[in-house]
Amino acid sequence: MTLKQLEIIGRIEKLKKERNAVILVHNYQNPEIHQVADFVGDSLELSRLAASTPAEVIVFCGVHFMAETASILSPQKVVLLPAPDAGCPMADMVTAEELEKRKAELPGYTVVTYINSSAGVKALSDICCTSANAVKIVNNLKSEDILFVPDQYLGSYVQSKTGKNMLFWPGYCPVHAMILPEHITRLRQEHPEAVVIAHPECRPEVSNMADAVESTSGMIRYAREAKAEKIILATDAGMIYPLQKEVPSRVFIPALKQARCENMQLISLDKMLTSLQEMSGEVKVTGETRERAYRAVERMLEFG
Ligand code: 13P
Ligand code: SF4
Repeated sequence: MTLKQLEIIGRIEKLKKERNAVILVHNYQNPEIHQVADFVGDSLELSRLAASTPAEVIVFCGVHFMAETASILSPQKVVLLPAPDAGCPMADMVTAEELEKRKAELPGYTVVTYINSSAGVKALSDICCTSANAVKIVNNLKSEDILFVPDQYLGSYVQSKTGKNMLFWPGYCPVHAMILPEHITRLRQEHPEAVVIAHPECRPEVSNMADAVESTSGMIRYAREAKAEKIILATDAGMIYPLQKEVPSRVFIPALKQARCENMQLISLDKMLTSLQEMSGEVKVTGETRERAYRAVERMLEFG
């Protein structure tokens, strides 16, 4: 931590109190952002916190769909995304218009939408899910016919666990798609004693090689219990920092160091300070879109 960073952190903390704000930080964020966090977590944990916090302002250190979800769940709060251009390329792989057209072709299908999607797409969905609860949610649906949107890789992982008749939107995460089976094979040869944890956004060929498939926070829980001393991680290499912090007794090896989500890294301490000073970067979902998206997200949260 530099003196300049410490000084900015002091100013963020002072403003946070004045504004009655809470700072929610996704696991992939850079280490200096973790320093100012009130809560760090995966998409599911952060959604729950956004729904229940008594704060008046939510500063979301993540990407756009996460801030939108916070606004959907807490419409009376001001939700700030310090880097308004922090998007998710996978969420952008489906538009509301495209989904509406596909739904018309598939009467009787239940639309299960990954939280990595726009509010407009959520509004057309029967239920949302995150990487942490997707299998449980699909398993609990009465329907056998599912259209899974937009992550085809998470979808195929869910299908392998539930056996349901599933169609997939052809979306994917470009960061996780960079990780290939040969990366895992090479690291397994170098570290035969290591276990492999993959995020379900990985290609099925990679997830199939893993000892465990987990959400980002699920990885931390798994690492705490793991017997192996070394753990190979098939996800954004930024996960090494929270894992090392939470489970210092293990050695973590990224499957691919270059696998970093550029959008997640757009958040900086400077931008957080400006956002809190000027109340800039507000993300707000309103009207019928919010009401309909709320139903899909709320149904997900009801699953517990
Ligand atoms: P988690 O919900 O597992 O944190 O994943 C969010 C995400 O965008 C991973 O790429
Ligand atoms: Fe989107 Fe992938 Fe970045 Fe997650 S890691 S926010 S899915 S681009």
